[in-house]
Amino acid sequence: MESTKHSSAEGTNEHQLNAGTTDAGTREPGTTDAGIQSITVIGGGTMGNGIVHVAAMSGFPVTLVETKQEYADRALLTIGKNLTRMVTKEKISQEQMDQTLGRIHTSLSPAEAVANTDLVIEAIPEQFELKKSLFDVIDQHAPEHTILASNTSSISITKLAACTRRPPKVIGMHFFNPVPVMKLVEVIRGLETDDAVTQAVTELAMQMGKVPVPANDSPGFVSNRVLMPMINEAIFTVYEGVATAEDVDQVMKLGMAHPMGPLRLADFIGLDVCLDILHVLYDGFRDPKYRPCPLLVKMVDAGKLGNKTGEGFYKYG
Ligand code: NAI
Repeated sequence: MESTKHSSAEGTNEHQLNAGTTDAGTREPGTTDAGIQSITVIGGGTMGNGIVHVAAMSGFPVTLVETKQEYADRALLTIGKNLTRMVTKEKISQEQMDQTLGRIHTSLSPAEAVANTDLVIEAIPEQFELKKSLFDVIDQHAPEHTILASNTSSISITKLAACTRRPPKVIGMHFFNPVPVMKLVEVIRGLETDDAVTQAVTELAMQMGKVPVPANDSPGFVSNRVLMPMINEAIFTVYEGVATAEDVDQVMKLGMAHPMGPLRLADFIGLDVCLDILHVLYDGFRDPKYRPCPLLVKMVDAGKLGNKTGEGFYKYG
């Protein structure tokens, strides 16, 4: 799932970022009991740069892998800007910012980057074939002990694991956008994921200042399985003329204490992403309750995808 601005609406902000400390308290930053000492993040887009940010702030050396140097530089620039904002707000010191940036390295070669790493977190686009070929490369070049985590929001972890020779070491680490702010990490166990791997990733998420929540691999995991039917139903109420988008959102904000209405949230996530996830739920369960509302399909066909195209259920400047 994609991002939620719930955090900002709730007044959550960088000050909640707890990177570098852990509930476990006494452990050295940049290490875990399970022995994770170095992390490679593949993909430096919306999610990847946030994951690199929190991992480096927690004391881990991180290699960020991108397809082009300009994309890696863009990710570093974003991380730098976000850290600078934290310094300005006196959430961290200039020294902490410098140390954090000093822990980040970039690479254009996944094969080289994973050759000496304990954990890989994949955050490339949500296309199975792309992820499959990347997992194949990582699997061939990463040491035997290396854990392979995916930040996928809807692809089966079990299916990704089956693309490797190490299914027990493959797991989902589903962060939320914006990563430095949002506390949740869904830890998704594939059919064959080792308990020790689940434990290691859970501990790491805590070390990154996050709150890990376990879930078994299932379409939509927990987050999207609960969220997307609500968004879809909100769209149906507009489609059927029950209420306007503004009024549906108002009901959910004022009546249910949601920090952001479901249609505003759908715009923020991207209506195309919502539609894709509903398809995953519909195909995965073959249950008509997940059928996408025709209005959602029509808006996606029209290119009205929400914030990113300037118009969805709302217009954006
Ligand atoms: P994005 O499109 O912003 O970033 C993907 C990045 O991966 C791009 O910078 C691209 O250059 C890079 N990339 C593509 N192929 C690559 C390769 N072979 N090696 C290295 N880098 C490569 O995508 P975003 O939004 O960050 O999503 C990444 C993953 O996170 C997806 O699986 C998505 O479902 C998931 N996710 C997204 C959330 C969101 O709010 N955007 C929330 C939670 C999960």
